[in-house]
Amino acid sequence: MQVKSFEEYQQVYRKSVEQPEQFWEDIANNFLWKKKWDKVLDWNFKEPRIEWFKGAKLNITENCLDRHLEKNGDTPAIIWEPNDPHEDHRILTYQQLHDKVCQFANVLKNNGAKKGDRICIYMPMVPELAIAVLACARIGAIHSVVFGGFSAQSIADRIKDAECNIVITADGSFRGTKEVPLKSIIDDALVQCQSVQKVIVLTRSHTPVSMIKGRDVWWEDEIKKVETQRNMECPAEEMDAEDMLFILYTSGSTGKPKGVVHTCGGYMVYTGYTFSNAFQYQPGEVYFCTADIGWITGHSYIAYGPLTQGATSVMFEGIPTWPNAGRLWDIVEKYKVNILYTAPTAIRSLMSFGDDVVKGKDFSSLTKLGSVGEPLNEEAWHWFDEKIGKGNCPIVDTWWQTETGGFMISPIANVTPLKPGYATLPLPGVQPLLVDENGKEIAGNGVSGNLCIKFPWPGMLRTTYGDHERCRTTYFATYPNLYFTGDGCLRDEDGYYRITGRVDDVLNVSGHRIGTAEVENAINMHSSVVESAVVGYPHDIKGQGVYAFVVCPNLHDDSELTKKDIMMSVSRIIGAIARPDKIQFVSGLPKTRSGKIMRRILRKIAEGDTANLGDTSTLLDPAVVEEIKAGAL
Ligand code: PRX
Repeated sequence: MQVKSFEEYQQVYRKSVEQPEQFWEDIANNFLWKKKWDKVLDWNFKEPRIEWFKGAKLNITENCLDRHLEKNGDTPAIIWEPNDPHEDHRILTYQQLHDKVCQFANVLKNNGAKKGDRICIYMPMVPELAIAVLACARIGAIHSVVFGGFSAQSIADRIKDAECNIVITADGSFRGTKEVPLKSIIDDALVQCQSVQKVIVLTRSHTPVSMIKGRDVWWEDEIKKVETQRNMECPAEEMDAEDMLFILYTSGSTGKPKGVVHTCGGYMVYTGYTFSNAFQYQPGEVYFCTADIGWITGHSYIAYGPLTQGATSVMFEGIPTWPNAGRLWDIVEKYKVNILYTAPTAIRSLMSFGDDVVKGKDFSSLTKLGSVGEPLNEEAWHWFDEKIGKGNCPIVDTWWQTETGGFMISPIANVTPLKPGYATLPLPGVQPLLVDENGKEIAGNGVSGNLCIKFPWPGMLRTTYGDHERCRTTYFATYPNLYFTGDGCLRDEDGYYRITGRVDDVLNVSGHRIGTAEVENAINMHSSVVESAVVGYPHDIKGQGVYAFVVCPNLHDDSELTKKDIMMSVSRIIGAIARPDKIQFVSGLPKTRSGKIMRRILRKIAEGDTANLGDTSTLLDPAVVEEIKAGAL
């Protein structure tokens, strides 16, 4: 599945465009199927309807686990590094991971789980999180993992939307010096959720928790029950290629987060292929992805992609800056990591601690580096290259999205010539296209536009859970017959792609996707707030910060306290990741005569670029803008 030279990449790419079905069929033949497909692809972007490998039968966990047992059962699948460096690490071989997944799959069955059920997972970054995910897939249940930083309200929204009947969680989680009471947050969420019958609770932090009779059970007790049945086997449920594998909620420019749906066959082929090819993974290499399984990066490139390839993955529970900013480098040294895949925000944050934290660390094991989540600015690119890669490691800057399932535009390590700040070229099978505001293709090189994809790829989303129309309008209706990414993009003279950021009302804060509408809704729930508008502004570490303009007419003396109250509201309603960095109280928002908020102007003010606000002739009340400019933070 790996191309070995740039010439080969160009050939393979051409084939993937001219004969996409043949191309993907050849790739799919590298995986284990219980039955092969009747048809490789059936599609239209109008409805949209996308079906890959229709008629094929498989279980992704047989590809992630069983397939490796005979030859590589003793190969480490997961090396787990705890939050506290003094706690023992854990290694699970493919055989051990297989057995634990089967055991827990039996636990799920004992607790009433069956094929097609939706199961919410809200857990710390411990091996049991990967085990829970794979156990769901083993029995054909659809997992919906919710990142451990989301609030009770956010979890409740997700559980209700997917009508989950089981929740898998832990007593608490450790992140740096913080302890997060996961079970208690789940308890708060479940007050609103009638569909949940069972909560399975892993012991991690030994935080006291309240266990509800008949509903809540301990992971460890349930495992004992299946152990006594001596049950380390669990037959893998036969899944159709187009059966749902998981739902993952992500933010958009409007409304509540939507449940992006990925299916079994195409997602497996796509994540396995892209992992193998872009990172040029070789057996025996140690791969470390610093993401959390709560995000798509963790799903595709900690769990499924690497496991289908029999890779050894490091899984890290903690944060890069604790106990100190050398933590990631200590992990690299400890496990002799060969491939390090991280995010620009982490790189910038570690950069800001100065060179002392990298001095004396042994990076000699590293051969390949990767980045994901937001544009990797040139300064950070060079620092990563020089200080970590020692000028010897290609930087694989992977552009992709929750919706794309896997890498789309990305260098292939040691194959694609690199350019700092560029995601470079589309991977085989990916057909990007730039369009102008009217959807007209912008051909040629040295151009910029909105990034679309014109042909399906196996890892793409199939629908948004419970609301197919929302999937259509969000991704396939802006430009007919194209998938619209929401990103702006530049294609330079060499045909290289550089992603310039979102062109919609979605923020990218430390690589986390946040809808401005969601944050505004949360702010507006505060009792003193009349209305608000949220925009992004450039932030040295986070990439973007959250800037909120808030109308609060009866503000009392203590406006600082009100700001804190508003921040607290956002944390409670969404989660701390969406908390505004800046709040400016204003007497009104700049609106057009038809009542639309002119965000363009607010964005400029937030960016500090007030000299050139562009056309303000449609403003209802220009005085408001002057006031906001004068009070800008
Ligand atoms: O704006 C792009 C940015 O992250 C968005 C997708 O966010 P999410 O679905 O949360 O997935 C993040 C992990 C895949 C994109 O629309 N983005 C992601 N990777 C890059 C990027 N922007 C620039 N360069 C990247 N490598």
